[in-house]
Amino acid sequence: MRPCAPSHLRMRPPGEAAGNAHQSDSCRHVTSTFVAATDVSELKRSVRPEKRLIYIETPANPNLDLADIAAIAAIAHAAGIPLVVDNTFASSHLQRPLELGADVVLHSMTKSLNGHSDVVAGAVIVERAQANAIEIAQWLETHPEVAWVRYPGLPSHPQYELARQQMSGPGSVIAFELRGGVDAGRILMTTSA
Ligand SMILES: Cc1ncc(COP(=O)(O)O)c(C=O)c1O
Repeated sequence: MRPCAPSHLRMRPPGEAAGNAHQSDSCRHVTSTFVAATDVSELKRSVRPEKRLIYIETPANPNLDLADIAAIAAIAHAAGIPLVVDNTFASSHLQRPLELGADVVLHSMTKSLNGHSDVVAGAVIVERAQANAIEIAQWLETHPEVAWVRYPGLPSHPQYELARQQMSGPGSVIAFELRGGVDAGRILMTTSA
């Protein structure tokens, strides 16, 4: 078999443990090291010479963790590799990774960038959805059936200050957990008000 040079990505999807993930596709020989993008020092430690790029998603789906784009761009550039940022949840209306040092920015075009299947007035829709999300997140935080709420616009978000620094608004996606667990979640998803 023709040998391929290995390439490496680093990222850690929410909820997954740190460690090495080796893609089984033996032709591409792409291996990835997953690290918590919230932990800049751990990320810095794991940048080894064979790494080819750093890939982050901020805010992350589904737990709304944030990654410090400027700090991670500095780490990437010190290692001579590019930083790729998935900016889908924020949209370019609320967060400008290139201005913070990122080299490549990508968006899923099926989400806020196109205003959810309505390309017309996408930015207006982002603003409106965000205003709704702020109110809903604040209300959820006071709800007795809600165990926790994670939203970059709430001071309870562990990276609230980072959100204020690198985003011009907290966006429109909220994560929360019900005290009643999966059963309560099923009822919520299948019951209309
Ligand atoms: C942050 C983020 N990026 C990219 C994608 C990919 O979306 P799609 O396959 O619809 O383009 C998703 C999907 O949930 C996402 O949440």
